Amino acid sequence: MTSSSYGYFDDANKEYVVTTPFTPLPWINYLGNNGFFGLISNTSGGYSFYRDAKFRRITRYRYNNVPMDSGGRYFYINDGGTVWNPGGRPVRTELDHYECRHGMGYSKFIGRKNAVEVEQTTFIPLEDTCEIHRVKVTNQGDSAKTLKLFSSLEWCLWNAEDDGANFQRNFSTGEVEVVDSTIYHKTEYRERRNHYSFFSVNAPLAGFDTDRQHFVGVYNDYSCPKAVMDSACTNSEAHGWSPVAAHQLDVELAPGESKTFVFVMGYVEVDADNKWQAPGIINKAPAADMQAKYDTEAKATAALKTLTDYWDNLLSRFTVKSGDDRLNRALNIWNQYQNMVTFNMSRSASYFESGIGRGMGFRDSNQDTIGFAHMVPSAVRERIVDLAATQQSDGSAYHQYQPLTKKGNADVGGNFNDDPMWLVLAVANYVKESGDTDFLHFVVPFEDTPEVPSTIYHHLKASFYHVVNNLGPHQLPLIGRADWNDCLNLNCFSTEPNESYQTTQRGDSKVAESLMIAGQFVLYGNEFVEIAKLLGMDVDASEAQPHIDAMVASVKQHGWDGEWFLRAYDSQSKPIGSQQNDEGKIFIESQGFCTMAGIGFDDGKAEQALDSVEKHLACEYGVMLQQPAYSDYNPLYGEITSYPPGYKENAGIFCHNNPWIVVAEAMLGRADKALSYYTRITPSFIEHLTERHKTEPYVYSQMISGQDAYIQGEAKNSWLTGTAAWNYYAATQYILGIRPEYNGLRIEPCLDKSLGDVQIVRHFRDAVYHITINQGDGTGKGIASMTIDGKPVAGDLVEYADYAGEHQIEVVLN
Ligand code: BGC
Repeated sequence: MTSSSYGYFDDANKEYVVTTPFTPLPWINYLGNNGFFGLISNTSGGYSFYRDAKFRRITRYRYNNVPMDSGGRYFYINDGGTVWNPGGRPVRTELDHYECRHGMGYSKFIGRKNAVEVEQTTFIPLEDTCEIHRVKVTNQGDSAKTLKLFSSLEWCLWNAEDDGANFQRNFSTGEVEVVDSTIYHKTEYRERRNHYSFFSVNAPLAGFDTDRQHFVGVYNDYSCPKAVMDSACTNSEAHGWSPVAAHQLDVELAPGESKTFVFVMGYVEVDADNKWQAPGIINKAPAADMQAKYDTEAKATAALKTLTDYWDNLLSRFTVKSGDDRLNRALNIWNQYQNMVTFNMSRSASYFESGIGRGMGFRDSNQDTIGFAHMVPSAVRERIVDLAATQQSDGSAYHQYQPLTKKGNADVGGNFNDDPMWLVLAVANYVKESGDTDFLHFVVPFEDTPEVPSTIYHHLKASFYHVVNNLGPHQLPLIGRADWNDCLNLNCFSTEPNESYQTTQRGDSKVAESLMIAGQFVLYGNEFVEIAKLLGMDVDASEAQPHIDAMVASVKQHGWDGEWFLRAYDSQSKPIGSQQNDEGKIFIESQGFCTMAGIGFDDGKAEQALDSVEKHLACEYGVMLQQPAYSDYNPLYGEITSYPPGYKENAGIFCHNNPWIVVAEAMLGRADKALSYYTRITPSFIEHLTERHKTEPYVYSQMISGQDAYIQGEAKNSWLTGTAAWNYYAATQYILGIRPEYNGLRIEPCLDKSLGDVQIVRHFRDAVYHITINQGDGTGKGIASMTIDGKPVAGDLVEYADYAGEHQIEVVLN
């Protein structure tokens, strides 16, 4: 357990304990795994949605507000005029004790004031579309207490974008019903919706409010809601305006007595023919069924236990015990947890992604699977099917799709030329992990040829040939709108402030080329060839190989700048990421991808490129995206030059790409450098930087400001970042070197001595391997000897066919 002034890790409980409501930024957690989701801050701020944070937003949240983090599911105590929240906000009353425990799929708030303790535990059960708040109130004093307990949340009118814009309509549409202790939100149900939400409690009410103006007051805010301050709800019924749900419970407690209430906020869908139980009265049967499952403390507690058991089991599929607790904490708990969240959310809903912008990104979602396939392979399979269904027969893909409809987002379109090859990574990684080679024959038609029974294998082939068919003047891949770096817009030339860099393309120069895609093509092109061979498609394999060889040759001939790989050629065929440039002389992406592809391992270029990364791009807080930063806007390069120096893609530390360097260093056998880069951005290793970082000390952020920034080392955009999957992949598959392959598990560590000997438990398909890695006296790279169940085995591959079941594996490193 280490600590900062804001909190500490509690590894035994798999929790981060926040010890003040006033963290540098709201520190959040995610609830829900199966379609119903909640974002919850360390003061119980946030919101909930069903599947799609744009189209099925259930509770309202106001982004970028003053004060920060306004809105949530708040519980209030009015104890003889002293008003407070167990979550420490929004009421400003200072508590005698506050803690928030963010755990795996739940958050617990413990507030104490004047000998009253409230413990609020909020979670989404595995099986239902509802959020449960188990609220336990204890009188710790020696005299009886009569308290008022209020709940409160604000309904969002379903479409989050419309909810924040279309007030001329919205202020007239809101509708609710209140029956017993349940408040039903049924706005728009009378017309086209077959769903409603509800907020209930398993105790009789002393009062309620459903109209915000009555509960909060027109000129009050959530720090002093009128009804709470007045000690009485008004039983208001919302007709239009802003519907809310607030319960009032009068709670009498003898000294030492506790009472527990279970609040359930749920979402239900109703069969279109059975929408009404009487004219104008909604069919409440599905809500009643759900409520009945959680209407006692025991039932709620059992559901919480099922959830924590689920997580214990999930996380136990890969555990590590090294000599460094920080590594263990990252790999055993928080990184895997974040991998689930990025897998579920892509880049849609966080405290920095409003949930109304992008849906699921093609490149992002494919990459997110590589940190998750060992946890829930079946979900990865389903995701890959959804992604493949948005691909076109020429290999191109919609850049995003909407989770509710699973349809490609036509507003954004495609033409991001890195997109197709990420599918190869996701499929190869999934099949290696699961052994599900049949999946390669699974039929998923291309979006534009629904009648043709194309298989996943055909998709991979289409991805491969999309690159081959889109080469530029140097026989390098055309970049299209952008490659991985969304902000390097070489065909955009925007001088109009109201247009999007990502979707604007002026002409199709067929000139601008990407060295990042070149490396990506070689790396995942080789995977494609391996898959073709696996399926016995030898003609495909031998036809593909020359394209890969030619790409390696083009990179060496046109993509090497003397000490590192170029980044791109612009629309005028001039190099980017070259000594010839005044700014942006060297970029991280092409160094990462060309070296991971193995280019330059034979002639020293790979090593030289990585040495240049260390010399020019590495700093204390991580590896910067490029150097020097661009100081002026350049329409030829687009958005990258729109950011002030040191931020985001303009020479920020864009964490997502740092693991590429970790992988490449491990491939070269430089264990110390691999670990050093890994730890620079891994949250548990940089807890001491929390004051500077500001974001949650338990998860990765997308970006840390670089050395050109006004404020250096400040993190932004926590949670939804490809860093999670990639740094996990780099650490487990390359530093620990536990790498799934089609016929078994490769064990090829590249382990710095500081990590000591390492014990690993790795579930692999139906096998369980207990692996001990003993440091030798040498480099830490690769293994000198391996025994399985005490018997020496040649090489470093544990063949699955020979070793299903449970086995002890012991390796000694070189
Ligand atoms: C996007 C990624 C992109 C990255 C770098 C992120 O915000 O989600 O798709 O690769 O930025 O530009």
